[in-house]
Amino acid sequence: MLRGAFQRSGGLLRRTFDRSSSTLAESMVRAGAVVSVPNDPGALRDLLRSIDRVNLTRIESIPLADDAQQMANIHLEFCAGTEEPVNNTLENLRKSPSAVELTGVPWFPRTQKDLERIEGQTMQFGEELEADHPGFLDKEYRKRRSLIAQADKSYRLGMKIPKVNYVQSETSTWKTIYETMEPLRNKHACREFLNAFSAMETAGIMKADHIPQLQTLDDYLNDRTGWRIRPVSGLVSPRNFLNALAVKVFHSTQYIRHHDQPLYTPEPDICHEVLGHIPMLCDPGFAAFSQEIGLASLGASDDDIERLARCYWFTVEFGLCRQDGQVKAYGAGVLSSYGEIEHAIMGSEARTLVDWDPMVASQTDYPITKYQPLYFVANNFTAARHKLVAFTSKEIKRPFGTVFNDERNEVSITWQGGRAGSHDSTTTM
Ligand SMILES: [Fe+2]
Repeated sequence: MLRGAFQRSGGLLRRTFDRSSSTLAESMVRAGAVVSVPNDPGALRDLLRSIDRVNLTRIESIPLADDAQQMANIHLEFCAGTEEPVNNTLENLRKSPSAVELTGVPWFPRTQKDLERIEGQTMQFGEELEADHPGFLDKEYRKRRSLIAQADKSYRLGMKIPKVNYVQSETSTWKTIYETMEPLRNKHACREFLNAFSAMETAGIMKADHIPQLQTLDDYLNDRTGWRIRPVSGLVSPRNFLNALAVKVFHSTQYIRHHDQPLYTPEPDICHEVLGHIPMLCDPGFAAFSQEIGLASLGASDDDIERLARCYWFTVEFGLCRQDGQVKAYGAGVLSSYGEIEHAIMGSEARTLVDWDPMVASQTDYPITKYQPLYFVANNFTAARHKLVAFTSKEIKRPFGTVFNDERNEVSITWQGGRAGSHDSTTTM
C-alpha cells in the first residue's frame, strides 16, 4: 500500500524566499510582490526607485478590469545573492509613497521552462531511507536507488529522461504488482483509467514483464493531453509539486520498491506512478482537474498550499467516483495498492464515503501509515472540477488570478478581484 511520502514533505513549504543550493545560479534568494500603484503617469517610475541592488527578473502589469480603474497592479520578482538586498527592496516597496498595497508572492512558474529554477530542489529521499523502510538494511538496494536517483538528479529540461536498465529482481517486483492488481483494477477502476490502460497495453507500453521507461511514457502522454513527465530523485515540496501541475508537468520517481515486499511501499515509486498516475493523466477531463489544483497553487500562501495539498490527496491520490451505480477508483494511491483498493471499494475495514467537497477536504487531516478512513466520491471530473473552481475562487486569497493559455502553453495572470484559477477566463495578458 502506498503511504504518503508526498505529505511528509509538508514541513518544507517554501515561503516568500526561495533558495536552491544545487548550482550557483540557483542559489539566489528570490522574492516576489504584487504592488498596487495609482493608474497615473509616473507611478511606475516612482515604484522602480524602490528596487535597489537586486536583479529584477519579472515586471508585469496585471490587466485592469477596465481602463477607468484607479489602481494598477504590478507583479514583480527579483533576486540577489543574499537576503539583505531582497529584504531591503521589500521594505522600500512597503514605504513607497506610490505603492498602497504590497503582497508577498512566492515565486511560481508560468511555463514548463520556468521549472528549470526548481531543478535539484528535492529531498534526498531517493537515496536516504528511513529506518523502517523495507530496504533500509539492504546495501545493494540502497546502492541501486542511489544510482537511479543520481541519474535523475542530473536531468535538465530538454534532455532525454535518463534510461533505467531495470534488473531482473526489479522487473519481477513490477510483474507481481501488475498481475496482482489486474483483476482488481478491472473490477474497481473507473472507466477513464481502464480505457487509458487498455490503450497503453495495445500500444505495447504496458506489459507485465517490462517496466516502461519514463521517456516513452512522457512522449505518449504528451501526444494525448500535452502533459510532460519530469523525473525526480526524491520528494518535491508541496509548493513545487503543485505548481508544476499548473504547467502540465508531473514529477515522477523512477526507482522501485524493495523486492522483499512487492505489495508495499512507504513512498511513491515507479509502480505507483505508472500503474496509478500516468494512465489517469491520459484522460483530458482528469488532466484538467489536476491542472486546476496547480493553477490555484501559483503564488498561494503557505496555508493555502496546505489546503490544496489536502484536496490533491483526497482526489488525485485517493479519490473515488460513481459510475453506473457503482463506486469506482480514480486515485493513484487506491489504483496502485492491493490492500487500499479492496478497503476503499469493498469496505473491508470501517471507512466512510462522502460526496466530493473541496472545502471539507481542505480542512481534513488524514493518516499516512494506515488505510484511509475517509474517501471523497465525485460524480464525474467535470463536476468535480467545477466544485474545485468554486472553492478556490472563494477561498484561495490572491490579488490576481491565473489561467492557462493553451495556445501559448503558458499561465497568464489576470486581474479578477482575486479569482484563483481557470482555463476559461476572458481577461488575460
Ligand atoms: Fe502519488
